[in-house]
Amino acid sequence: MGVVIPIEENREPQASVEPLVGLTREDMGKVNALILSKTGSDVEMIPEVAKHLIDSGGKRLRPMLTLAAAALCGYEGDHHITLAASVEFMHTATLLHDDVVDESDMRRGKQAARMVWGNQASVLVGDFLLGQAFRMMVDAGSMGALDVLSTASMVIAEGEVMQLSVAQSMETTEDDYLAVIRAKTAALFSAAAEVGPILADSDKPTRDAFRSFGVNLGLAFQLVDDALDYGGSKADLGKNVGDDFYEGKVTLPVLLAYRRGSEEERKFWRTAMESDSADSAALAQAMELLAKHGAITDTVARARHYGEIARDALAPLPASEQKRALLDVVEFCISRVS
Ligand code: IPE
Ligand code: IPE
Ligand code: MG
Ligand code: MG
Repeated sequence: MGVVIPIEENREPQASVEPLVGLTREDMGKVNALILSKTGSDVEMIPEVAKHLIDSGGKRLRPMLTLAAAALCGYEGDHHITLAASVEFMHTATLLHDDVVDESDMRRGKQAARMVWGNQASVLVGDFLLGQAFRMMVDAGSMGALDVLSTASMVIAEGEVMQLSVAQSMETTEDDYLAVIRAKTAALFSAAAEVGPILADSDKPTRDAFRSFGVNLGLAFQLVDDALDYGGSKADLGKNVGDDFYEGKVTLPVLLAYRRGSEEERKFWRTAMESDSADSAALAQAMELLAKHGAITDTVARARHYGEIARDALAPLPASEQKRALLDVVEFCISRVS
């Protein structure tokens, strides 16, 4: 009798989003169609602004998490499509708002919506998309999913507000920083993953596993995002490098270099981050100090740590293609350049 090899259970995770893209392709087609239909409004500027951002792509990571989690848990209905679209709308709304708050010029390789239509339109269209996200949650008819996603929406806003008060202060601790990214980024990854088992009516350990997977993947994702703000390339990222520095946003790479630096270096960081005077020469010096103290490398090492927690969270679940693809996404998030 031949040996039956299970679904590549023993293959090492690969740093790729492709397996997840492949598994969710058909469903994502439906999600994208729904997304497009929900940007519609008689108020012309709304679809214009929304389409500008939505048509420029984005990785669509969060909705793919929802789809894969629902499939892994054996869900057979259609509401995972609705919730995946809702999750991406929540994300798109936060990006519109975030670029206003951060005064960012570029998003997804194009001018940020606020550079074309202004801050007011960006905020209001973001509100429209958030409203649509909630209507889709109602369409999905799951109080459990509504609970998790509405909580995430509140927590994301809390995270962005929390960031306002810790930004530009070199007194920020690594714990403060972690609390911010847990709220502003990891909460949505977590909710996106958890609504899959909620729709499938999975047991509590399964729900908990997906929640933990999502939160830790989200932490890893944002840590890498903050490393890329110094170490990445504009062409890959589709957003400007050095934005966090010019804005005085204190992220982990800076915190590490600050703590590990000399008194003179700490003075440099205080001046650069706490005043609005930083220029490209200051950014070059910041890059040197980050390299000197291994601050980018160690930020990515921290991300790897949370990535491992995410992987272990899914470990007890039975082998499946979806599980394999989700483990690959963890690797992808850690080694990604875009
Ligand atoms: C950007 O998220 C916002 C962060 C949480 C850093 P993504 O990098 O997932 O954005 P898109 O959707 O792919 O553009
Ligand atoms: C994004 O944080 C988090 C949210 C959108 C809530 P950042 O401000 O670091 O993301 P980018 O760098 O603008 O994508
Ligand atoms: Mg930003
Ligand atoms: Mg960033």
